[in-house]
Amino acid sequence: MKCRVCRGPAVVDVRRANANFCPDHFLRFCRDQVDRAIGEFAMIAPGDRVLVAVSGGKDSLAVWDLLLELGHDVEGFYVGLGIGDYSDVSGQHARRFAASRGLVLHEVDLPEEYGFDIPEGSRAARRAPCSACGTSKRHLFDRAAIEGGFDVLVTGHNLDDEAAVLFGNVLHWQTDYLARQAPVLPASNGFPRKVKPLVRLSERETAAYCIVKGIDYLVEECPMSAGNKHIGYKDALNDIELRSPGTKADFYFGFLRRAAEQFRSGATGGDAAGLGRCDRCGSPSEAELCAFCRLVDRATTDRHSRSVPPAPVEIQLGTTRSNEDPR
Ligand code: FES
Ligand code: ZN
Ligand code: ZN
Repeated sequence: MKCRVCRGPAVVDVRRANANFCPDHFLRFCRDQVDRAIGEFAMIAPGDRVLVAVSGGKDSLAVWDLLLELGHDVEGFYVGLGIGDYSDVSGQHARRFAASRGLVLHEVDLPEEYGFDIPEGSRAARRAPCSACGTSKRHLFDRAAIEGGFDVLVTGHNLDDEAAVLFGNVLHWQTDYLARQAPVLPASNGFPRKVKPLVRLSERETAAYCIVKGIDYLVEECPMSAGNKHIGYKDALNDIELRSPGTKADFYFGFLRRAAEQFRSGATGGDAAGLGRCDRCGSPSEAELCAFCRLVDRATTDRHSRSVPPAPVEIQLGTTRSNEDPR
């Protein structure tokens, strides 16, 4: 296997590009893909202050690293979700990455500052853990970006994530969601500008980027993700991709180029300009209290009404395989 660029020994194959790369040219390929996504979708302007949502996993650490490589001014933001050892270990990875590069990492701990963790929030709201987790993260990320005066909030969503969300939205014809699915969401009425610079890189490529670059990320998936529908959509798309490489990218970018606009022009609802404010925290909200403040109320009331404390979440983690072969 030879590098497409220099003909030296290749370590990573990118089947959809029909190319193999040596370590240096693979890193350059990743930088080019991110630079291209930023330019193509006008994600970040020169001089913007950028906040990246960091989980300690491959995508968020890769995007932080790539944005720094491309010369952007980026600080990190980490939310401790209280998901047992998983959260402890993910926080350690985020802190280690920031410390090793002298970067600023802001942190919020959900149990410490809001009195509940994700297992409790999910139980109290009678919703899947990912729903309580998504509500909390969105709210805290948005507030951190707005209150910190950042121009743009970056998330580590990659091509696989975006294709899986699109697949789910198409399967159920969720046209309002399709109208809002984009790699850039502009700032509006109390929401920060949000961008996804990894949309041109697959999950396998961001993992390979971290390995080649020596970034020690948390390999384990969230232990509460069992039953998450998007994981099933990703598996289905991976099966298709295996048989015809490039399909995932065609599906997602074809949607953006040829269909997204039609959903946007026919969209009803979801217009942030029409939102009021949460009475408690001031965030944009359709109701008196925003979804996050309602979740806090439910979870903390639930906790206080228990006569016995909730059983601790027991999560077994394996070892972090930082040198896993990406091929
Ligand atoms: Fe859904 Fe962790 S709570 S992936
Ligand atoms: Zn090369
Ligand atoms: Zn609120």
